[in-house]
Amino acid sequence: MVRIVTVVGARPQFIKCAAVSAALGRVAEEKIVHTGQHYDHNMSAAFFAELGIPAPAEHLGVGSAPHGRQTAEILLRLEPLLEREKPDALLVYGDTNSTLAGALAAAKLHIPVVHVEAGLRSFNRKMPEEVNRVLTDHVSSVLLCPTETAVANLQREGISKGVFLVGDVMYDSVMEHAERARQDSPILKHLGVAPQGYALATVHRAENTDDTSNFLQIVRALERIAKELPVILPLHPRTKSLASRLGVTFDRVRVVEPVGYLDMLALLADARLVLTDSGGVQKEAHWLGARCVTLREQTEWVETLEGGWNVLTGANEEAIVHAALKLEPNRPRHASNFERGAATQATVRHLLAAGELA
Ligand code: UD1
Ligand code: UDP
Repeated sequence: MVRIVTVVGARPQFIKCAAVSAALGRVAEEKIVHTGQHYDHNMSAAFFAELGIPAPAEHLGVGSAPHGRQTAEILLRLEPLLEREKPDALLVYGDTNSTLAGALAAAKLHIPVVHVEAGLRSFNRKMPEEVNRVLTDHVSSVLLCPTETAVANLQREGISKGVFLVGDVMYDSVMEHAERARQDSPILKHLGVAPQGYALATVHRAENTDDTSNFLQIVRALERIAKELPVILPLHPRTKSLASRLGVTFDRVRVVEPVGYLDMLALLADARLVLTDSGGVQKEAHWLGARCVTLREQTEWVETLEGGWNVLTGANEEAIVHAALKLEPNRPRHASNFERGAATQATVRHLLAAGELA
């Protein structure tokens, strides 16, 4: 059987890994390595429990640290493990420090790297994620792209070997869980909001949490929007600690702890509006038909901008309020190529092929 080591460490990776691991479990021997980048219960263990992800075979326990140290600690702790395991392939997802460290450790040991969500670009090298994804793509043997745009981005960088358009595993996951989440999740009732009667917001990106002025503009914008429409804000721990350092309190915005995946899908599916700087949440809003205001200057998910269903405002207070309360999509939303399905099976097929070739 093909032997695969999967390296995950952050919330969105647990969600992507859930679908692929379930499919892999039947046809390959997978060991999940958790770097420990995210460690709060509601940022990590809750997803393993809720989505039935196999318990990590190894936990590296790196915790939070500046970029260089966090990446280096993962490398240090992962290298001996990979030398011991000698997997046929190493699987990484997305663009976090855990992604880059996993890919780099494996590439140096000549273990083929399979990158899920390859080819995404914001063309903003100030984003830590952009550095992580460019470098990961350049050491990967198999690059699994969710969109045609991603394939074209790689081509422009001279990468065409091992590139496959497979679709988005997060889309498969939304299709699998959203309807059930909407029916079963008690979260709307619990929060006292009605379908189409609230906005859902998330904020955690470095550009909005390392830059105090950006953060304060977003806070003011959300407070203004909340005068007209209840705003629910499941607060990322990074943003929570910034808010408490700055002494920011939310008066109207309803701040809650990070929620589980099914509650999040239920909130997304019934939101009148989504405001976010998250990559995954922009996509989920798109697939679930919710209008989105993206609190960033660029997006890697350009497909979501079609028809005005997603609007980029950066962290500009006026632009956010205007987009939230005044703009409407200019045409009905119709499914794009981006919603192709079967990405999980295609990912498993390519992983097995990569492992067999190794
Ligand atoms: C990371 C990823 C980002 C991804 C996000 C998903 C990088 C560079 N960034 O950002 O691409 O969108 O995860 O959520 O890899 N913290 C806690 N508890 C936790 C985790 C984090 O308190 O369980 C706090 C710590 O103060 C930490 C800060 O959040 O310093 C930032 O965590 P970190 O993992 O470095 O970056 P994220 O902002 O979560
Ligand atoms: N998510 C969640 N609970 C929350 C916020 C987000 O389950 O309180 C899910 C969300 O539905 C999506 C993923 O986490 O599937 C996105 O993760 P995040 O925004 O942290 O990272 P990004 O996608 O920006 O890298």
